[in-house]
Amino acid sequence: MNVMPTTSPAPVTDHPDEPGAEYRIRAPKRPHWPELSGAEKDARKKRIARLLAEQDAVLVAHYYTDADLQELAEETGGCVADSLEMARFGSESSASTLVVCGVRFMGETAKIINPEKRVLMPDLAATCSLDEGCPADTFAAFCDRHPDRTVVVYANTSTQVKARADWVVTSSIALPVTKYLHGQGEKLLWAPDKHLGHYVQRMTGADILLWQGSCVVHEEFKGFALDRIRRLHPEAAVLVHPEAPADVIDQADVVGSTVQLINAVGQLPNPSFIVATDEGIFWKMRRLAPEKKLIIAPTAGVGATCESCAHCPWMAMNALQNLEQVLRAGDQEIRIDPEIREHALRPIQRMLDFARRQ
Ligand code: 13P
Ligand code: SF4
Repeated sequence: MNVMPTTSPAPVTDHPDEPGAEYRIRAPKRPHWPELSGAEKDARKKRIARLLAEQDAVLVAHYYTDADLQELAEETGGCVADSLEMARFGSESSASTLVVCGVRFMGETAKIINPEKRVLMPDLAATCSLDEGCPADTFAAFCDRHPDRTVVVYANTSTQVKARADWVVTSSIALPVTKYLHGQGEKLLWAPDKHLGHYVQRMTGADILLWQGSCVVHEEFKGFALDRIRRLHPEAAVLVHPEAPADVIDQADVVGSTVQLINAVGQLPNPSFIVATDEGIFWKMRRLAPEKKLIIAPTAGVGATCESCAHCPWMAMNALQNLEQVLRAGDQEIRIDPEIREHALRPIQRMLDFARRQ
């Protein structure tokens, strides 16, 4: 059964570039997937593996998706990766169908880069608060008001928003791209994540005008509660995704994209880690270093809403059940207007070329 959570986009203001204004999206209810027995799970995985082979399809999964999906992607020759690597994998694979387990912008990016391939997703309604909080028309008007700025958008945006950008970045490459543009003397307009934008601004000193979007998952991590838990675990290293607020980032030993945080668990000598990102990432971290202790950073306390509680409600819309369903029905296919695609490809290609040069 395909459970469709109710989304309730609730912009606080139509003018996200106004100082102090916010553009906040409320998290939808996380879907409840009926528990599968071990035998049911195995049978379903076998059926999915057969369907993938029959259809010349591969799974491209993000680290925040369900452990069964990540495992199946690895077992069937697909990939589990951060959003930059997911974008790259699609064109490196010879498969004619990409089944993207993640959120909508990841499927759209795969289609923009590989227009000749069929791109399916278990549920096209799996979006992202950053994407929803950056409507293309309001964003275009924002850009029009600041024609002197180079437009940098996070990958977590729609195709239309990317089509308006000069550069697309993911969290793993946001810092070097910003350093480079700042070095070229460019002033930037940054969207949609204010926390990531603020972080790269502080690290590079670049002149950045921020759109006021945020991730409903990472915004729940609380600096004062993290400070308390760090005192209880002085041996632990703190790993933080840059979508988290500044007072959480300030306490980090490592700030990085999902894959960079996973690598830190393998590389640092610490016996334990406090992790401020979606807890779906624990599956890969445990595989890499089963002897290490992983503690999710606190989301509770003053100001907490616990709407997301360290697990993205849109990522949770991917499950074995609807993955099998989409492979049978072939619905939930990403389609993109060819003209908009051409415009959106340019800033993505710029990022991929930059990443290659790195
Ligand atoms: P990564 O690019 O680090 O995988 O992040 C994607 C994302 O949506 C994090 O919330
Ligand atoms: Fe978007 Fe946040 Fe979910 Fe990542 S975790 S997909 S940024 S809502």
